[in-house]
Amino acid sequence: MKPLTLDLSPATELFPPKIKRRLMDEKLLAVLTIDDPEDAVPVAEALLAGGVRAMELAWRTPGALAALERVVEAVPEMLAGVGTLLAPEQIHAARDAGAAFGVSPGLSVKLLDTARESGFPYAPGIMSPSDLHLAAEYGCTLLKFFPAESSGGLQHLRNINAPFKHLDFRYVVLGGLNETNMPSYLSEPSVSVIGGSWIASPDLIAAGNWEEIRCRAARARQIVDDASRG
Ligand code: 3PG
Repeated sequence: MKPLTLDLSPATELFPPKIKRRLMDEKLLAVLTIDDPEDAVPVAEALLAGGVRAMELAWRTPGALAALERVVEAVPEMLAGVGTLLAPEQIHAARDAGAAFGVSPGLSVKLLDTARESGFPYAPGIMSPSDLHLAAEYGCTLLKFFPAESSGGLQHLRNINAPFKHLDFRYVVLGGLNETNMPSYLSEPSVSVIGGSWIASPDLIAAGNWEEIRCRAARARQIVDDASRG
């Protein structure tokens, strides 16, 4: 019998291989919500000092994009993306501000169309087989599994990915992850990146506690490195 080869996707990849590779090599993503753009550079430097070199700046505050611009300019070693993209204009604005990539909590045809037209590296959020089917049709290969823990965790991800396994989706797992549950996700081959907001939580940022952020980043990096060594 011939092997099953399905190509549901259009020619263009929504997450170009080079930037996808870099994110997958990092394996770790800090999710940040920043109120005051002045905090952006010290937070990014604390993360880097702890070994976290990729971040998602959640666009949930008025200062989020200004924060991103500061990181792009002052901390070029940081792979800085924007999250919580909900409207097509936000994709244009994030790209113009220098974001390396964008993610959304859910799947929106409007945003997928905009990302494709503008050539912006983009990963939508998914949590169901229907989401995965649509993502495949749009040529997505990297997806944000969100909210991971409350939607059923690793077992749920394995179950929804099973019918699509031959399409080789890769997942950025976010939502409810912590130091205890992170290692289990890394045992799943389709999981390429994990992370969360606990590494640089809003209360630590508000308190200017860069040292604790550096320590948490180092612990998260250690967990990922230990899991990668097997
Ligand atoms: C996100 O937008 O990715 C989440 O806020 C991350 O989830 P967490 O806050 O539970 O880590």
